[in-house]
Amino acid sequence: MSNPSVLVLNATGKVGRNVCRALRDAGFSVHGTTRSNTHTLSSLGVNPVVCNYTVRADLDRALAQTGARKMFVITDYFAAAGKKVGVEIEQGRAAIDAAKAAGVEHLIFMSVADAELFDEHVVHLHAKVALEKYLKASGVAYSILRPCAFFENLDDPANWNPLKKGIVKFLSLQDCKFCATYDIGRAAAIQFHNPDQWLGKTLDVIGWQGDLSQVAAALQKVSGVPVKAKLAMPIFLRRLFLKDIHHMFLYYEEQKGPRGTPEAFKQILPDALSAEDWFRFHGRYANGEPIVAKEGTLSKPPPLGY
Ligand SMILES: NC(=O)c1ccc[n+]([C@@H]2O[C@H](COP(=O)([O-])OP(=O)(O)OC[C@H]3O[C@@H](n4cnc5c(N)ncnc54)[C@H](OP(=O)(O)O)[C@@H]3O)[C@@H](O)[C@H]2O)c1
Repeated sequence: MSNPSVLVLNATGKVGRNVCRALRDAGFSVHGTTRSNTHTLSSLGVNPVVCNYTVRADLDRALAQTGARKMFVITDYFAAAGKKVGVEIEQGRAAIDAAKAAGVEHLIFMSVADAELFDEHVVHLHAKVALEKYLKASGVAYSILRPCAFFENLDDPANWNPLKKGIVKFLSLQDCKFCATYDIGRAAAIQFHNPDQWLGKTLDVIGWQGDLSQVAAALQKVSGVPVKAKLAMPIFLRRLFLKDIHHMFLYYEEQKGPRGTPEAFKQILPDALSAEDWFRFHGRYANGEPIVAKEGTLSKPPPLGY
């Protein structure tokens, strides 16, 4: 029998490419949408489907073309929705409606852990709450994954936080719950493989918990180089210029959210990546230099983590 097919939306994004990789590693035949970046997907062993995942007609065509009856849905407030909650909701509804019309048998929606518990200033999560409700009422067979902060935020050049040797920066020094985007994909593989257990269910994806000094200690252990932990920007600037994100961090810092724990997630995925694991998996600093410097390998760095 051929491998089951999955269509992953927004497959070239930070989440999408690692979800594709994890599903491929779990034995699925993976199709990923992109408007034009087919090379990235092909190099990951993913079948690229030229499709703007925010456009209903494109989604209908992608589902027909691939024949996939499993679908991983990502929506994005910041890039694709242009920071408009209503637009992100419309885009998510289009994906759910397209899945229903095509007879998708299992749709996994990526939401956010505790999305409904953040205060009203955390606007970038409003659509996630609305879309969870829409999906539950849609009649489409679903599961929901609710990740916490991505380790990938620790190396995020697009948001002025490239990972550099000897230093790790984040928007908080305090205790935080993290997950690897690869583990979102591994959790999706478990749900797709076990629909009897997971249809209609929600899972928080939380792989590891620690403060920034513990993150720095993990990088130090992996790299063998002393590592300092620093705020990416002073808290008063975070409050002034990143109001939405600042209030998200207040939920982490003052209310110790999200409520889920790495222990609970490890009941489902026992080898969920820790900070140390993630630095090994990620493999490189933002400038391409390998994190794990091994004698004789400096001129030939290991393959990219994703
Ligand atoms: N950062 C975190 O810690 C965190 C934690 C939990 C959840 N999340 C959630 O993760 C999601 C973000 O996913 P992500 O970081 O993977 O996204 P991302 O990396 O920003 O996605 C980038 C991709 O979006 C596509 N794209 C950009 N502009 C577009 C447009 N105008 N129309 C259509 N496609 C467009 C591009 O694909 P192509 O050019 O290939 O088409 C691009 O490769 C958000 O929903 C966020 O809430 C984030």
